[in-house]
Amino acid sequence: MEQKIVSKRFDAINPLSIDDYLESGGYKSLKEALKRDRINIIEEIEAARLRGRGGAAFPAHVKMMGIAKEEETTRYIICNADEGEPGNFKDRQLMEKDPHQFIEGMVITAFAIRATKGYIYIRGEYDKAYSILEWTLEEARKKGYLGKNILDSGFDFDIELRSGAGSYVCGEEFALIESIEGKPGRTRVKPPFPTQKGLFDKPTLINNVETFANIPHILEMGGDEFAKIGTESSTGTKLVSLSGNVNNPGVYEVPFGVPIKEVVEKLGGGSKDGRKIKMVQLGGACGPIIPEYMLDLTIDFDRFEDFDSKTGAGAIIVMDERFDVFDVLLRVAEFFEHESCGKCTPCREGNLQLVKLVEKFINRKATQKDLINIESLARVMHQTSLCGLGQTAPTAILSTLKYFRDDYLDLIEHPEL
Ligand SMILES: Cc1cc2nc3c(=O)[nH]c(=O)nc-3n(C[C@H](O)[C@H](O)[C@H](O)COP(=O)(O)O)c2cc1C
Ligand code: SF4
Repeated sequence: MEQKIVSKRFDAINPLSIDDYLESGGYKSLKEALKRDRINIIEEIEAARLRGRGGAAFPAHVKMMGIAKEEETTRYIICNADEGEPGNFKDRQLMEKDPHQFIEGMVITAFAIRATKGYIYIRGEYDKAYSILEWTLEEARKKGYLGKNILDSGFDFDIELRSGAGSYVCGEEFALIESIEGKPGRTRVKPPFPTQKGLFDKPTLINNVETFANIPHILEMGGDEFAKIGTESSTGTKLVSLSGNVNNPGVYEVPFGVPIKEVVEKLGGGSKDGRKIKMVQLGGACGPIIPEYMLDLTIDFDRFEDFDSKTGAGAIIVMDERFDVFDVLLRVAEFFEHESCGKCTPCREGNLQLVKLVEKFINRKATQKDLINIESLARVMHQTSLCGLGQTAPTAILSTLKYFRDDYLDLIEHPEL
């Protein structure tokens, strides 16, 4: 059931050895790419129908083509390695176990869009990955894959490593840009989008680590072949971070279209001690909580949206019957209250109120009015918050109002109203 493309070198090579990477076919795609027409490379990504793996699932070629057409010649490329979403740990493995792979993807993309400089913005807590990347970038420079006149192509490009400082919102693209610029990590109003006016007001392409990791493979196998993997709307594979009450938590690579149930049962080895699974949170803290009977749902960007869900960055958090819906909701609400940057009112005030409302249910003080309030507040936050943090913070609440409504009704004073 697993199909290893971006994880095929995990534990098979020494991540600190560029020679191991080269022997396993590494940097071949870059060598070929440097001989190709730039727009043709983007067309290959278009044929692959690659969608971003950082959560929003935006078509990768659209951003690339947009930036390639900008008049401004100073252009930046950023790899989003912030991975601050609870439940997600797949980018960490990409960086620790095969660091040259996504760097190769970055250099190819930089060549295609004529980027002049690159950044990797890495989560502050990822000390080991940071050290590995420092080493890896230096090795790549020494062998001519980064720096001036890469492989005698006349193309100059280098990458700088920047570390976050523990803020979840700095994974949001504009907050991340502000952070690199040395400002507090807060989003900007869109449009203009980063591809038009991003880092230091220059056109900037931001992609996730896994998105870049796919690029060398797309060029190697060809966009059309890549598009045959997965489903019509979601091509290729997805790295899934599986955690919670399963026997074998970990990172697994599966083609899109695989049912969540199979990932949990076959790869995760089922629930611990054979306990009944009560619910699963998808995507991470910002994702929906669905009941066990929905686990036939397949991993697919569009399929998830049919259920008001998103694949997010691919987390699957399994919770068995010992877990209470409201304990989980409280943790999630407190996380967002803590991480809200405070720039806009719906998120700053809304998350505070969501915590209070969830506590009211837990303390059996909630009324029918609180049920109406929590639902309408969650919807308003979703629709009016300035950035994705506030827009997705109430997803867990909205999904449980849909799939676990009886749990709310059991706790309110006068459910008959
Ligand atoms: C609060 C918040 C946190 C985010 N954190 C990350 C992150 O850690 N890594 C990531 O790749 N994208 C993250 N994103 C999504 C980015 O804004 C952006 O969509 C993504 O980096 C684009 O890359 P992709 O198209 O390759 O997915 C976050 C978004 C929000 C709203
Ligand atoms: S939604 Fe939240 S995190 Fe985003 S700008 Fe508003 S307050 Fe800040």
